[in-house]
Amino acid sequence: MSTTYGALQSLRLTPVHDRDQEPKWWRSSVIYQVYPRSFRDLDGDGVGDLAGITAELGQLAELDIDAIWLSPFYPSPQLDGGYDVSDYCDVDPSFGTLADFDALVSAADALSIRVIIDLVPNHCSQEHVLFRQALAAGPDAPERDLFVFRDGRGASGQLPPNNWQSHFGGPAWTRVTESDGQPGQWYLHLFDSSQPDFNWDNELVRQEFERVLCFWLDRGVAGFRVDVAHALIKAEGLPDWDGRADGGSIPGYPFTDAPMFGQPQIHDIYRRWREVLAEYDGERILCAEASVDPLDRLADWVRPDQMHQTFNFSYLAAPWDAAELRRIITSSLEAFDAVGAPTTWVLSNHDVVRHPTRLALTADSPRPGDGRGPEDEQPDHVLGTRRARAASLLMLGLPGGVYLYQGEELGLPDHTTLPHDVRQDPTYHRTGGSRLGRDGCRVPLPWTSTGASLGYSATGEAWLPQPQGWAELSREAQRHDPASTLSLYRSALALRREHGLGSGSLAWAEDLTGPDCLGLVNNGVLVLLNTGSAPVELPDLPVLLRSGSPASAPHILDPEECAWLQTEDPGTTGR
Ligand code: BGC
Repeated sequence: MSTTYGALQSLRLTPVHDRDQEPKWWRSSVIYQVYPRSFRDLDGDGVGDLAGITAELGQLAELDIDAIWLSPFYPSPQLDGGYDVSDYCDVDPSFGTLADFDALVSAADALSIRVIIDLVPNHCSQEHVLFRQALAAGPDAPERDLFVFRDGRGASGQLPPNNWQSHFGGPAWTRVTESDGQPGQWYLHLFDSSQPDFNWDNELVRQEFERVLCFWLDRGVAGFRVDVAHALIKAEGLPDWDGRADGGSIPGYPFTDAPMFGQPQIHDIYRRWREVLAEYDGERILCAEASVDPLDRLADWVRPDQMHQTFNFSYLAAPWDAAELRRIITSSLEAFDAVGAPTTWVLSNHDVVRHPTRLALTADSPRPGDGRGPEDEQPDHVLGTRRARAASLLMLGLPGGVYLYQGEELGLPDHTTLPHDVRQDPTYHRTGGSRLGRDGCRVPLPWTSTGASLGYSATGEAWLPQPQGWAELSREAQRHDPASTLSLYRSALALRREHGLGSGSLAWAEDLTGPDCLGLVNNGVLVLLNTGSAPVELPDLPVLLRSGSPASAPHILDPEECAWLQTEDPGTTGR
């Protein structure tokens, strides 16, 4: 039995967010994350490369995106997928050369696609020259002060300086062997032991990173996604901390007092960076990857003199529940509007289980870093795909910036049966396999329906195997199929631009929101989502797009479906 809603004329609207007054590209941008290792491998060594990205930019341009964000491609031992950087101003030979990078930027520019890169300022690789020098220089040398070295506790310094835990499991400290062959000081690493944390209280560290910013800005990048942006400054005295390694207290996860995250002095660093960027033309941007709760505290990061954007992980973590989605969307818009910043929306990235898999799991949503393996509950792919398509359409109907993760436009799920012996994520190895890690969301993309690695690599080599069934999800298989997820994304992104949804406004359509249904109006487009199990009658309006089957009844919104309806003439256009 379906529910009938009242006539549209009698809709009661609750405005939450007004149209943006100052159009700047990054306020409404669609930014596509490229994870270079898994995008496209042109030289056939089994690892993606910059030339592979350049070769496929035309396919990305078809999605009508504003920018790509490249995960790290710098020289690195790759012990954390390149987030262990040994040289911030070069390209790892497995990805290509600086000339390949320049070629990528100019090819992207020709397609009006900006290039944003990933800056990893909290830590480097143990292979970085500054860390090697710090090790060699000995305990009291100034070189050590670029990192967080401390003497250990206990009679012979045999215990770590405090009780902090690494994000990837195990202690956040490693003891070094000094030049006399004796066990010596400990260094801090909030992540893997191969990733020593910088000491951002040292002015030389600040100057070095400002140099790095300029190096890439001079090469034409449009900005930076700033890795673990909330961790750079640690509380004075490095006090013990009994909360979760990721900074959240238990239970309830209020992010309030973790001594390694969200320290107020961090903002001085970003104020300086903002000034550096302001010297360049073209509105270059900073986007914080900051796991800071609650949302109004996160909004501190995006004031006019600091970062331009920050990821909204509260939205990513939202359960499949209409009321919760409404609550999180409302509080996101209110929190960011209060400081004049745009809200961003994101459903997947290289650290979390992809949303078609996440939304199909009946258990609690997995924590970042907790993948799914062959021994776990396997997701219902049909249900996951239905929900993911609906979730994507809801997200693309919201005002603000959007981040997409490579492969979500193909509806790719996680690889949930990856053999354990191919796993590379340090989380897996540092927890003795009790947390599976993030390899499942980093599997090389399928480009064609045939071939050993489905067109990912020229030789069929691939650093991780692809799961069964990905041939049908390949770009080639979806490209000309109007019912495919790729076609849905293409249409949604084109309509998003045509109707100016990114820079639009949001009002909740009260009369349309039954307990399992969400209705919002943005720039004359009515976005309706049904998270429930009963069909819902659609108002008598032209349907612009729907996430469900083309065979669905025209006036019915199916369970787990989202639709966009036209309420008035699109007054606004995008770019
Ligand atoms: C990145 C991860 C990385 C970690 C350490 C994160 O937030 O997104 O992929 O492992 O920072 O750099």
